[in-house]
Amino acid sequence: MRIIQVSDTHLSAAHPFFAANAAAARAWLAAEQADLIVHTGDVAMDGAGAPADLALAAAWNAGLPAPVLSVPGNHDVGDVAAIRPEQTVDDARLAAWRAHLGADRWVHDQGGWRLIGLNAMLFGSGHAEEEAQFAWLAEALGTDAPVALFLHKPLFIDGPDEGPRGYWTVTPTPRRRLLGLIAGARVKLIASGHLHTHRELHLDGIDHVWGPATSFVCGESQEDLGGTRRLGALVHDFGADRVTTRFIRPDGLEDLTIEPVQHIIYPRPARTGGGAA
Ligand SMILES: [Fe+2]
Ligand SMILES: [Fe+2]
Repeated sequence: MRIIQVSDTHLSAAHPFFAANAAAARAWLAAEQADLIVHTGDVAMDGAGAPADLALAAAWNAGLPAPVLSVPGNHDVGDVAAIRPEQTVDDARLAAWRAHLGADRWVHDQGGWRLIGLNAMLFGSGHAEEEAQFAWLAEALGTDAPVALFLHKPLFIDGPDEGPRGYWTVTPTPRRRLLGLIAGARVKLIASGHLHTHRELHLDGIDHVWGPATSFVCGESQEDLGGTRRLGALVHDFGADRVTTRFIRPDGLEDLTIEPVQHIIYPRPARTGGGAA
């Protein structure tokens, strides 16, 4: 089974700065053979403020040669209040996501694997759906099959016991709870987006893979988190018990940075923890 992971397309009706990269990534995807495409979030530039951007993402997915399953990012459904108080995840934003992109969490069995998509933006949100998702996940992990998890924010940067990493990761309390749940399952891959950076880390039997963006990379607004800041996509080949991952650089992508246009796209005060990814 082959799954292509794309991430952080940041499609936007109002701000076309990265549209050429989205078109290049889609042209590459349209010519690839895969059993499934997983989009690890930030499908839109401002889906949380302008649902029309989510409609653009649905149109981008339509007609691709494999089914597309997506999980929401902070730019799609908002973030937790501690990070982005002016645009928190709420019922209306979740409803808009579901109307345009489908379920915000999903379980999909294929090729002898259980694939689980999580809504990372609920972790630490206090929204009622956060508890519902944990209960749902506990049930979804009740399988003898190997498991791959897909979510927008990575669980951590350097290791599972680190403290808060602000804008960049799931916060420590839900991280611990999530890691406790998956400890009893055969989780082999945790694939995320959000950092606009590519990295593959094998830790305690799990591949923690940061999928690169297809839209832009971050410059000085992002501290050095490790990994490689470059645009691209990942091809995951699923074996009997292990996933082999390759980085692919589709033709036509240009490593544009966000900073020259950040003040146009986000004409708001700097947020807690910084970042535009
Ligand atoms: Fe993000
Ligand atoms: Fe992003």
